[in-house]
Order: sequence, then structure tokens, then C-alpha cells
Amino acid sequence: MKVLVVGGGGREHAIVRKLKENSRVTELYCLPGNGGIARDAVCVPVSATDLEGILAFAKAHQIDYAVVAPDDPLALGAVDLLEEAGIPCFGPRKNAAVIEASKVFAKDLMKRYGIPTARYESFDRLDAALAYLRTAPLPVVVKADGLALGKGVIIAQTRPEAEEALRSMMEGKRFGKSGERVVIEEYLEGPEISVLSFTDGTTIVPMISSMDHKRAWDGDLGPNTGGMGTVAPNPFYTPAVAARCMEEIFLPTVRAMAAEGRPFRGCLYFGLMLTKDGPKVIEYNCRFGDPETQVVLPLLKSDLLTVMQAVTEGRLADCPVDFSADSAACVILASKGYPGSYEKGYPITIPADLEAEVYIAGAKEQDGQLVTSGGRVLGVTAVAPTLSEALERAYAAADRIEFQNAYCRRDIGRRALAAKEG
Ligand code: AMP
Ligand code: GLY
Repeated sequence: MKVLVVGGGGREHAIVRKLKENSRVTELYCLPGNGGIARDAVCVPVSATDLEGILAFAKAHQIDYAVVAPDDPLALGAVDLLEEAGIPCFGPRKNAAVIEASKVFAKDLMKRYGIPTARYESFDRLDAALAYLRTAPLPVVVKADGLALGKGVIIAQTRPEAEEALRSMMEGKRFGKSGERVVIEEYLEGPEISVLSFTDGTTIVPMISSMDHKRAWDGDLGPNTGGMGTVAPNPFYTPAVAARCMEEIFLPTVRAMAAEGRPFRGCLYFGLMLTKDGPKVIEYNCRFGDPETQVVLPLLKSDLLTVMQAVTEGRLADCPVDFSADSAACVILASKGYPGSYEKGYPITIPADLEAEVYIAGAKEQDGQLVTSGGRVLGVTAVAPTLSEALERAYAAADRIEFQNAYCRRDIGRRALAAKEG
């Protein structure tokens, strides 16, 4: 089978590695991939948002199955285009990807179907948004409607700060069209839980839960990033919480999307906050999370391609999806300065005998040598019977990888460990 993965980060590297385990996969391509993925799949420099380029490649190489991983091509309709050309795909169509691509859509959907989330109002006019802000309780959360590379959320402690966020989104067009509409919502508190799920539009199977670490610095301080590390499972996701999420959030969301004529097939990601009133949805993503995937897929015991095809063909109810009872930890090695400006082009040395998986995110091959090319350079994932062992092994491996200006958080998993002991 000829399989194509669209995307080029650490998440795609983890997907590629897992797909490779299936012996039916004879040719594996990644568009555009990166210098590290190139060691596991044939990478071709076609941008993940070049839909015509992707389609042309898929046709020319007679691709049998495609996995579209990032949000942008999904929101642009990559799956629609490939499916119309007769190429089966993993990923939602454009009309379902809107669950991530428009926060106003997602919030209105939750309101209509009684799915627990932060209270909110949405605005497409600055004067109305500013008027509402005058009475909103603090802190207050301001979100750009559209995709903004994970940077479209401002948690404002003061009204001037919130006003500045609104102005930069709606007047300054800081996020282009994405910020023309905004959501202003209630600030929620509690531990965050990520749950990725497989769904074929009817059946939903949650994967093992995980915890992201979004802030750049130790102690959850500093600017928001794409994610500095993850652990799985998430200790706050107890069987009781899981049951409640299934009944109040997961099933209602899948049914709501089907009822709206937007059946969701693919990986539906629930960003949850466990508040004192129970679990609430912070955000939906229409795809695998990054770096959640780097801890979730290493724990998947079932064959990924088999599960993905069951999703595509609407057979998920008959497809077993099993996870290991182990724990996994992923530590991201970033370029110092990320998510702000940073230097790149530094050679990376990875020992051959690491007891961990290394997923490359921001590196390219230059004269036979891997060199840094992005903010998040790579993720180091270790799997072990307990979370503390997994963390120990991930850090031990990360500390043996070298490149100039490498930076990582030293406290990944600390909150999860404390919760387990507490
Ligand atoms: P998002 O881009 O929607 O994932 O938001 C980024 C981060 O902002 C989330 O992971 C939360 O930590 C935080 N956040 C988003 N919405 C809220 C909210 N209503 N209350 C508190 N924190 C929030
Ligand atoms: N780790 C969060 C995300 O993928 O959006």
C-alpha cells in the first residue's frame, strides 16, 4: 500500500513511525516532512497548504491512503479534494474541520447542544465588543475566531489589556481575517486535560488521555507555545471524569456535528478543563494534537493504519482500539528564545543508543547532517511502567542530545506526578 502523510512536524513524525509498523505499507511519503522524518519516509517539498500540489502528487504516485494531519489543509478542504479524486483519507472534510477553524462556530454549537463550556459572547464589531468588555468579570479571555497558530488567545487580567487585545485583533488585523470576529469568554480554572479521539461520525473512541505544557518556562510561566512537553495518561482524567466526558461532551459533540450535516471523521481533539463544576470544553481541534500525539501513539497497541481505515470506512464500532497500561513522557527540545525569535542552523547530535524515541519537528538535513531549523526542534518520548520512570528516561535521553542553544522545560510532568501522589 502507498500511504501519504501531509504535514511536517513532530506529530507527523510520530504518525509516520506508527504507520511504518504495518507491513502492508510498502511506500510511505510525507509532504513536506522534514530532515528527521526523511529517515522514515520519502519526504517531498510540497507545502501542506498547497492542495493542488498534494492532489497532483497523490495522483502521480497512485496513493492508496492519505492522512492529513495539520489544521490548515483540513480547514482548506484537502480531504474533500482528495476524496473527490477517489483517494480515501484520514481527516475531516472542510465542513467538519470548522469545529477548530471557527471558534464562533464551536461555541455556538456547544450552546445549541448544551455541551459544557465557558460562558461567552461573540462579536464582529469592535464598538460592541468594547461595550461588553466594560462589564465583563476579570480575568477575561479574548479569542480570535479563526486559526492563529495557537496564538489567538489572550488571557487579560485587566480591562486595558483586554481592550488592547481586541483592538489588535479587530482593528490591527493582527491575525488577518482570523481576528475579524472574536469570542470574549469567561475565565475558567482547573487542570487541563487533552483527549484525542477516533470518530467515524457515529462511533467515538477516546484515546489515552494526556497533559500538555503550553507555557514556555518552568512553573507554567512565560508565553504560550505550541507545547513544551506532554505526559500520558493524565492523572486528573479518572474513570469517573472519563464517564462524565463521554456522556456530557464526547457523544453530544459527535451527534451534534452529524445533526448539523457535518459528520466528523478523523481525530477529534477535546481540550478540556476540569473545573469545580465538572469538565468543560476549552477548545476543539480537528486533528491530532502536537505534542500530545508523541505520547499517545507510542502507547497505542492496535495497528494505527487499521484503525484509521475503520474510521474512514465508518466501521469504527467493529474495530478494537487498545492502549498499553504504561505511561509516556515527551520532552520538547526547543531553540532558546522560542516562541520569540531564535537562531537556527546548528548541528544536532543524537546518540544511536538512546532508550527513547526522537521525533523531529524543526530540523533539516544539510550536507548529511541534521541542523536546527525551527523553534520546537524535536521531542524525546520515553515509555515505562510508571510516569516517574518515563520522565526520568525522557530527560536522561534529552540530556544526551546536543545542539547549540537547546532549551527545554525541566518540570514536565511535575504536576501530574504530584496529582498521582496527592
Ligand atoms: P487555545 O488556543 O484555545 O488552546 O487556548 C490556549 C490556552 O489558553 C488553553 O490551553 C488554556 O490554557 C487557555 N485558555 C483558553 N480558554 C480559556 C478559558 N476560558 N479560561 C482559562 N484559560 C483558557
Ligand atoms: N497541543 C495543542 C495543540 O495541538 O493544539
